[in-house]
Amino acid sequence: MTPPAARGARTLPEFPWDTLAPYAATARAHPDGIVDLSIGTPVDPTPELLREALAAASNAPGYPQTYGTPALREAVAGWFARRRGVPDVDPDGVLPTIGSKELVAWLPTLLDLAPGDLVVHPEVAYPSYDLGARLAGATPVPADGTVQVGPSARSMKLVWLNSPSNPTGQVLGWEHLAKVVAWARSHGAVVASDECYAELGWTSAEVPSILDPRVTGGSHEGLLAVYSLSKQSNLAGYRAAFAAGDPVLVRRLLEVRKHAGMMMPWPVQEALRVALGDDAHVVAQKARYRARRELARAALEHADFTIEHSEAGLYLWATRGEPCWDTVAWLAARGVLVAPGAFYGAAGGQHVRVALTATDERIDELGRRLLQA
Ligand SMILES: Cc1ncc(COP(=O)(O)O)c(C=O)c1O
Repeated sequence: MTPPAARGARTLPEFPWDTLAPYAATARAHPDGIVDLSIGTPVDPTPELLREALAAASNAPGYPQTYGTPALREAVAGWFARRRGVPDVDPDGVLPTIGSKELVAWLPTLLDLAPGDLVVHPEVAYPSYDLGARLAGATPVPADGTVQVGPSARSMKLVWLNSPSNPTGQVLGWEHLAKVVAWARSHGAVVASDECYAELGWTSAEVPSILDPRVTGGSHEGLLAVYSLSKQSNLAGYRAAFAAGDPVLVRRLLEVRKHAGMMMPWPVQEALRVALGDDAHVVAQKARYRARRELARAALEHADFTIEHSEAGLYLWATRGEPCWDTVAWLAARGVLVAPGAFYGAAGGQHVRVALTATDERIDELGRRLLQA
């Protein structure tokens, strides 16, 4: 293994996807082609309505507003009220972001975190929470409970939550969220909740936001919900996302982002605004993913996989009770590529993450291969 790349005081981890390359080569050699379920990148077309909104705004000679247009910020507040059970988002507390990954990676820096500060994030997690802490020179702390953090909570400046989770699909209930908020507030830490799979719940259980009144006690102080339209609207290529919550916090971020030129292009702001007002395309996309999920789940279970959590989001969190690289190799031999759970933390060492972002034809092919296993 190559040593981590040093960047001054910071240490960045190795880019993990490179280590999957030999398994990708094996899977690609399958006579009927690879079924690539490794990276969760959408494959269905961007809805016509959103492409039209982008095109209609293509005359954009002037600079866009870093803060986003007032109409966009109103649309975000309206979406929270309509879709997330959050009636009190203040449009002043809304900030468009250029996809949500950049915010995840830069939030600790934008908040001025420094060496010695702690950033708590889920134990099995999307790797960018860890990376963002390192970029700021702060210390990432993987922990799922307050007890795990213990007395070091004194140095905690930021707590990341991710519900529904990538990779596990676990959803946190409002009582759990409320407990984390109370704990973080008692230490003066910000809570940022990455909720980008919130529209993709597969059970009757609700998917509460960190801004839910039952969680916040009526105040958004110190809280940010982070959301993205990449997955729900097939807009990953547009980079259309936002954060919402505490207006004071948003103004702090806005100040730095204005200086740094971190602004969403105006045509994308318009496509995002239109997308937030249209539920029909999200319902249609969700139906496609539901069908793929059911088929993929049945195929994996037939091949003796156990599916854990996965109650929401775009992944099946699967295990055969063996080291994840053995499972990756077993599937690659059948032309199927998945992500090893170890990419998301040591606690994922016996799981693989199976993305549902493949065409119907490729998911049918997965079914054919595993039903013969
Ligand atoms: C948990 C989580 N957060 C953030 C992102 C980034 O999404 P985007 O930058 O496309 O908004 C992803 C993408 O897969 C994700 O899984």
